[in-house]
Amino acid sequence: MARRKETLNVAVIGLGMGRGHLDSYQKYGRCSAAAICDIDAGRLAEMAGKYGIPQERCFRDYRKMLAAVEKLKLHAVSVALPNHLHAPATIAALRAGLHVLCEKPMAMSARQGRAMLAAAEKARRKLMINFSFRFTDQSQALKRMVDSGAIGDIYFGRTVWHRRRGMPGFGGWFGTKKLSGGGPVIDLGVHRLDLAMWLMGSPRPVTVSGSTFDHIGARVARQQGKSFDVEDLGCALVRFDNGATLILEASWAGFSEKREDMCTQLYATKGGIVQRNQEEGYTFEARVYGEQGGTLWESRLQQTTVQTPSAYQEFVDAVLDDRQPLATGQDGLAVQLILDAIYRSARTGREVRITAR
Ligand SMILES: NC(=O)c1ccc[n+]([C@@H]2O[C@H](COP(=O)([O-])OP(=O)(O)OC[C@H]3O[C@@H](n4cnc5c(N)ncnc54)[C@H](O)[C@@H]3O)[C@@H](O)[C@H]2O)c1
Repeated sequence: MARRKETLNVAVIGLGMGRGHLDSYQKYGRCSAAAICDIDAGRLAEMAGKYGIPQERCFRDYRKMLAAVEKLKLHAVSVALPNHLHAPATIAALRAGLHVLCEKPMAMSARQGRAMLAAAEKARRKLMINFSFRFTDQSQALKRMVDSGAIGDIYFGRTVWHRRRGMPGFGGWFGTKKLSGGGPVIDLGVHRLDLAMWLMGSPRPVTVSGSTFDHIGARVARQQGKSFDVEDLGCALVRFDNGATLILEASWAGFSEKREDMCTQLYATKGGIVQRNQEEGYTFEARVYGEQGGTLWESRLQQTTVQTPSAYQEFVDAVLDDRQPLATGQDGLAVQLILDAIYRSARTGREVRITAR
């Protein structure tokens, strides 16, 4: 394992979203982007050129890269592959002795998620999941406020991400169940669930009732002659062991009011919070609601700028400082258990009880 003062040598597998990982590693002083991998030779060459990565550190097969971990002096890897490859690539990397930052969703199923956790434990390596919405000044300020007890105990929440139209890579792996695990529930809902549950203090989910629909996605796919066998909208009601209840909604398509609508609203015994995207974009506003002396008040969240580290910096810091990262594999599994239950409930038309952890 790298010692405190050392530079962490990080590789990136998958150069779609992985380009963002690569860029962040390249800019962060405590690490260096030491190898890249993508089956797409064009993408690989483009990124090698852009970041000055020598040819002997570029791979089209991640297994070959992992076989050369010692020669390449690798310490860690980002796995930013299509969802069906998260578990196999992560487990192979952990077995090769690397710490892993795996993209969300952690895996295709909780069973795979548990295998990843077991591999991390056996290899004594860190496993972080890229729940990137936690890593903003605003989300961190909200978390501090909730943890301070200022709004009391959270008992209800609603967390949504709707798109009027926005199916990623329509006709590609995102819309193919055996490659993605599902549609917007596993793609967008995963972020919303994690953010809400993290703010709620990570209660344990006990029951889930969910529904999924594919009216628009399936129709558009038929018209365009493309494949699509996942949902385009899903929703769920999740109950937790502390009695709190959370509603989740996620869609890639629907006749919705807004083109892009992201909102997490939490109701607590002494107050409430909401974080909502602005003007259908990716900047957020957070507001707080409370009561004093019988008068109801509301205000914009007072947010000190503390320069919250990005998920990539957090991963590097956690490895070098030998501590748990902020978003762990266990957090990934908690979300994955709910995702599994939503799809099962939607299939069977029944509420699903989560007994496993
Ligand atoms: N955290 C976030 O906010 C966020 C945002 C976008 C995507 N993601 C996640 O990142 C992952 C990748 O999504 P994306 O949008 O980059 O997809 P993408 O299809 O754009 O990119 C995937 C890349 O992996 C490569 N690839 C596929 N199979 C490979 C293999 N066997 N070996 C090596 N390379 C291979 C492809 O050539 C492609 O370049 C997904 O799990 C997605 O959910 C997360």
